[in-house]
Formats: sequence, structure tokens, C-alpha cells
Amino acid sequence: MNSNGTPKQKFIFTDSGRMEKILSQYPDKRSATLPLLHLAQTQEGFITGAIIDAVAQYTEIHPAEVMDCVSFYTMFFRRPLGTNKLQVCQTLSCSLNGADDFVDHITQKYGTKPGETTSDGKFTLLKVECLGSCGTAPVIQINNDYHEGLSINELDKLLDSIP
Ligand code: FES
Repeated sequence: MNSNGTPKQKFIFTDSGRMEKILSQYPDKRSATLPLLHLAQTQEGFITGAIIDAVAQYTEIHPAEVMDCVSFYTMFFRRPLGTNKLQVCQTLSCSLNGADDFVDHITQKYGTKPGETTSDGKFTLLKVECLGSCGTAPVIQINNDYHEGLSINELDKLLDSIP
């Protein structure tokens, strides 16, 4: 039961075949935690409490351990976000090479501060920690794709090309 007395919504993987395949790949079920979270987020768009409970059940660990993973990795979202996640690296190499200007540009272009979503739901601007490509700074990850070493003009064209 939820705190308001309503029954808890149960999460069900729509791609049960993929879920079973992931589970079968790991002798220790807990090792499937991250891939199952990715699969669930692809399905739902963000990680709900019901997803945490379901993944805990499948991996046979406590929901608090699943929550530890979700809160540690910035690629898991705890709330609904825009269709396109604009994740600007804010760590040193990118910050020194213009990533702060990316944030300012996106904020001006869409009127959206970091953490906010445009009113049409198209974009969410996020500042994230090192994306692991420091040598090609500044880096912006748009959904699952990296875009590296862009100028502001190139970033602007890229943003305008997103349907
Ligand atoms: S500092 Fe930006 S990718 Fe590492």
C-alpha cells in the first residue's frame, strides 16, 4: 500500500523476453540490476518506485540497494523529463573549454534553466558530471549520443536539426 492507502502499482516489463535474457546472462542476479534499470527506463522514461521494487524482486536484493544504484548514476532519471535530454558536462575539462557557454546558450534559446523542461516537453537541460570524453571537450550528450568539441554555432545548428 502507498502512504495514502491506495494499492501500489506493480511494474511489468513489456519486453519480458529481453528481461529474461538479461537475467539469464548473470549467474549472480544482482549483477543484472543496471541493465534491468536501463530496460525499465527505456520503457517508462524514468525510474518509478514500482520499477525499483520490481528490479529488487528480480535481482533478489533489497529495494534500498536498487535505489542506491539509481541515485548514484546520473543516467537514471527519477522524474519525467523532456523527449530530448540535453546533458552538458560540467566537469573541469569541459567547463574550461566552453560547456558553461553551452548551458547559457541553451538557457537563452529555450528559456530553460538547468533541471528544467521546455513547456512543449521537447527538451530538458541537465548539467552532468564527467562523461568520460575529456579529451574532446566540451561534450554534450543528447539522449544516447555524444557530441564533442562543438562550437556554439555548431551546437545551435545541431539543436535546430532535432525534429
Ligand atoms: S570533463 Fe567533460 S567529459 Fe570529462
